[in-house]
Amino acid sequence: MWGGRFSARPSDIMQAINASIGFDQKLAEEDITGSKAHATMLAKQGIITDADRDAILGGLDAILAEINAGQFPFSEELEDIHLNVEARLKDRIGEAGGRLHTGRSRNDQVATDFRLWTRKSLDLFDTLLTDLMAALLDQADEHAATIMPGFTHLQSAQPVTFGHHMLAYLEMFARDRGRMRDCRVRMNESPLGAAALAGTPYPIDRDMTAEALGFDRPMANSLDAVSARDFALEALAAASICATHLSRLAEEMVIWTSAQFRFIALTDAFTTGSSIMPQKRNPDAAELVRAKVGRIMGSLTALMIVMKGLPLAYSKDMQEDKEPVFEAFESLELALRAMAGMVRDMTPNEARLAEAAGAAFSTATDLADWLVMTLNMPFRDAHHVTGRIVAMAESQDLTLSELDLGDMQGVEAGITQDIFSVLTPLASATSRTSYGGTSPIRVREQVARWRAALSK
Ligand code: ARG
Repeated sequence: MWGGRFSARPSDIMQAINASIGFDQKLAEEDITGSKAHATMLAKQGIITDADRDAILGGLDAILAEINAGQFPFSEELEDIHLNVEARLKDRIGEAGGRLHTGRSRNDQVATDFRLWTRKSLDLFDTLLTDLMAALLDQADEHAATIMPGFTHLQSAQPVTFGHHMLAYLEMFARDRGRMRDCRVRMNESPLGAAALAGTPYPIDRDMTAEALGFDRPMANSLDAVSARDFALEALAAASICATHLSRLAEEMVIWTSAQFRFIALTDAFTTGSSIMPQKRNPDAAELVRAKVGRIMGSLTALMIVMKGLPLAYSKDMQEDKEPVFEAFESLELALRAMAGMVRDMTPNEARLAEAAGAAFSTATDLADWLVMTLNMPFRDAHHVTGRIVAMAESQDLTLSELDLGDMQGVEAGITQDIFSVLTPLASATSRTSYGGTSPIRVREQVARWRAALSK
C-alpha cells in the first residue's frame, strides 16, 4: 500500500508486531458497511463516478459473502482488516477499487468500524440484561412470600422474602442496562470523514455518511474523532460494574448451594460432578461467572493504561484497543447468558429457608420494636432490654419464640402474650411494609411495576 515510498519488505518481526488481522477480522462486516456508506457519498458528491460506485458496492458485497463463507484469503502481510478488504477489492474490480480510499484514512475508518461494533454489542447487552431481569422477576413473583434470612456481615440479620432478594438484583441489572443505554447515546456520533486527523479538501458530506450508518451526527472535531476511545472505556466501565453485580449473585449461589446452607438447588443443567467424589454437585457455572469479572475489569484497566498519555491524534498504540473490548464483551455475554440460565434453573428450598430465617434470634429487632410501639419505650432502652432477653434465650439454648413468658416478664414486666405474635420470621417480614421494604405486599407491588416496565 505504501510501495511508492518503501522499497524493502518489513522484517518478519515487524510484521508480527504490526499486524492486527488476527483479531480485527471481527470488524469485517462493520468495515464493509462503512466503506459502502463512504462510496455512496463520494458518488453523490461527484467525487467518484456512479459507475465506480456501483463497481465498489458490488465488489464489497461479494467480499462480505466470501468472508461469511469462510473463503476470504486473510493475509498478515496486509496488516489489518481495512487493507485486506481494500486489496481484495482491487483484485476483484481493478482501478475503481483504488478510488474508495479518497477523502478517508484508516484512522477514521477504524474509529468508525469500532464504534459500530461496540454499539452493536451494547444493543446485545440490552437484550441479555432484559432477559436476565425477566428471569429474576419470575422468581420474585413466585417467591414474593417465601421467607429467608437476610444478612449483614453474612450473619443472620432480619428475615426477608426471597422475592425481595431477587428484586434487589433486578434493580442493579436495570441500572447496568441504563448505563449501557447512556453510553450508547454518547458514543453514537460518526468519526467518518475526519480522515487522517485534519479533515479533507474533498467536498464530502459527513452528515450523509453519519445518517447512513445510524449515527446521530458527525463528530464535530476531526482530531477528537480519530483520537477518542472513551466510548470503549465507558462501555468497558459499564461492563465491569455489571460484572461485579453478576459476581455477587454468583457468589450467593455458590454459598446457597452448599451443604451447609442448602438454600437453593441447581439441576444437572448448571452443575458438574467430581471425577473422584461421587457425591459432589459443583456450581461451576456460578463460579465462572464470579471469576469473569477478572477479565472484564482487567480489560478496562488495560485500555485505560494504553490510552493515558497518548498525544493527539492517532498512535499505533490504539490498535491495542480492540482485544480488551472483544475479550471483555465475549466474557460478559457468556456470563449474562449463564446467569439468566441459572436463575431460571434454581429452586429455592422453602422449608430450609424458613428454618434458617428463624435461627440466630433474627426477630430480636421485632421484639425491640414491640416494646417501643406497645410500651412507648425509647428505642435505645428497648434495644437494651431485648439484648438481655436474647442473652437469656442463648443461655437456655432456646429461640425467642420458645422462651417462657414469665422469664421475659422477669426482664421487662410490661411484656404480654401478644409479644409472640411478632416473633415469627413470617410476622417479621410481613410487618416491613415501608416503601421498598421486604413485606410480600411491597414485593408484589414491585413485581407488578417491573412486569409492566419489562413488557414495554
Ligand atoms: N489496524 C489499525 C488499528 O487498529 C488501523 C489504523 C491504522 N492507521 C495507521 N495510521 N497506521 O488501529
